Amino acid sequence: MCGIVGYIGNKNCVPILINGLKRLEYRGYDSAGIGIVNNGHSDVIKRKGKVSILEKDIEKLNLNSNLGIAHTRWATHGVPNETNAHPHFNSDKSIFVIHNGIIENYQTLRKGLQKFGYQFITQTDSEVIPHLIDSFIKQGYNLFNAVRASLGELEGTYGLAIIYSKEPDKLVVARKGSPLVLGVGDGENFVASDVSAIIAHTKQVVYLEDGEVVEVFKDHFVTKNLDEDGEIEKEVHQISMTLDELDKGGYQHFMLKEIMEQPDSVCNSMRGRILFDEGTAKLGGLENVAKQLAESKRIIISACGTSWHSGMVGEYMLEQFARIPTEVEYASEFRYRNPIVNKDDAILFISQSGETADTLAALREAKIRGALCLGICNVVGSSIARETHGGVYTHAGPEIGVASTKAFTSQLIVLALITLLIARKRDMSLVDGQAIVKELEMLPDKISKILKMNKQIEEIAGKFKDAKNFLYLGRGYNFPVALEGALKLKEISYIHAEGYPAAEMKHGPIALIDDNMPAVFIAPKDSTYEKIISNIEEVRARKGRIIAIASEDDDSIDRLVDYSIKIPDTIRMLMPVLTVIPLQLLAYHIAVKKGLNVDQPRNLAKSVTVE
Ligand code: G6P
Repeated sequence: MCGIVGYIGNKNCVPILINGLKRLEYRGYDSAGIGIVNNGHSDVIKRKGKVSILEKDIEKLNLNSNLGIAHTRWATHGVPNETNAHPHFNSDKSIFVIHNGIIENYQTLRKGLQKFGYQFITQTDSEVIPHLIDSFIKQGYNLFNAVRASLGELEGTYGLAIIYSKEPDKLVVARKGSPLVLGVGDGENFVASDVSAIIAHTKQVVYLEDGEVVEVFKDHFVTKNLDEDGEIEKEVHQISMTLDELDKGGYQHFMLKEIMEQPDSVCNSMRGRILFDEGTAKLGGLENVAKQLAESKRIIISACGTSWHSGMVGEYMLEQFARIPTEVEYASEFRYRNPIVNKDDAILFISQSGETADTLAALREAKIRGALCLGICNVVGSSIARETHGGVYTHAGPEIGVASTKAFTSQLIVLALITLLIARKRDMSLVDGQAIVKELEMLPDKISKILKMNKQIEEIAGKFKDAKNFLYLGRGYNFPVALEGALKLKEISYIHAEGYPAAEMKHGPIALIDDNMPAVFIAPKDSTYEKIISNIEEVRARKGRIIAIASEDDDSIDRLVDYSIKIPDTIRMLMPVLTVIPLQLLAYHIAVKKGLNVDQPRNLAKSVTVE
């Protein structure tokens, strides 16, 4: 989704901004632009497409400036083209604005401004902002107050960075609903929508809260609330992410690197959190609320996309072992359907980025209704992590590939740990707790074993790359994995794929099966094995092509299926951590063989910060 980076200091901001944009590329975008102010003169350059196109054209201009802002856009209002790219500006190009989010009342504002002679050249909602600021400056406001006055008129969400050629000693930023961080340097300051854009320059960051507006100078910054004049003291956080973590580490794509990292990322999600002797988990971020959580009458899990799939696995875990009724809700639906939320409910919000707008909105709604709100996030310091009453970081490390892989398996680990914690506080025996702990500890080695089948999976991918549709089928804990496998394929290979509970196949999807339709069965040897074998027979009888993810000791399945990928066993609740890995690799190799952009699939964004 849209990315922001800004700089003020003594260096030339142009390479800093371009590198920052490159770091933000993974979020997904369709155009990019940069605006700078130098000696009362301002320049703006925008291009459709990749940052490298913008970079090439900027190099020719030999620009030099100590103050600038830059943006990658993911279109919401107005087609992706050069004009609609940010920064947007007022008529004399003295005010540059970049904006993440959506201004809901832009039509009304636009009409009002047009009456005063303001002319609009883009189709975007964002363009009202520079004109609005301009109108306040014309009434005698300075930039900071003009921004604050303008924000008072805006409905919707924003992360904003603004510069003004007549006040070249500052940039002004504001946040409501779209993430923004300040990077504090020595005689220089940075702003960004995501720390990855500024990590090369500083590790000291300040997270902005909704309603805050900041005047950023090169050697200090002043934070205020939108409607109060007192200065707000902001805490400076030290972040531990390194540049190496943001690089591809020799892999062709981030997605493959992240799939391959899973033995480590899964290990990191459990590190220091397992108490073998007590057969339970120790989760610092839940310590203050663990009792309340274990006594809650109902658990609701709210999330989007892949995180929603991990939530579904969480539902199975929590109901089986903690014996607390659990529901899983799409965050977008939860928010808008006037949900019944009681004070003794606990709500888990799962989000890799911690910034997904729908999940954040659902969290805010649930907080108003008085429930205990907990987060499972990957990005440290993200909005959801900060606004929940407690939570657990997944510690999977930065995930750059748009298709989520290691974040998913780490979410499953954290959900298993939370289940263990609650279940042991309720009626799970020490022996049962220890059995789960033991299985958890064996997962990294088992994942490594599956990853060694990469070549075999690549070969299978080659046979199926031209398929037009795919069906993914699983039962019990592996039903959400079927959904996740289908989502991975859709996201990066643009092949239509559906996930279904295997038993439901005969109530509809079976009509689709013919000799062109591949079906992927997740069929490890568990209590539903015999049933799923019957489903495989049903597909076989209709000449469907079958790939099975099966247990390593299952020799008999080979006579029923075209291809099998044999994986180690574990207990049922943890099986999804293993069964999903071949499906990630299958989707990856199919997309690569189709020559597609695996890390930045069309139309998708890593973190969806608009509702
Ligand atoms: C986007 C991403 C998905 C992700 C979903 C939820 O759609 O493309 O990969 O699963 O958002 O993101 P979150 O950061 O909240 O887990």
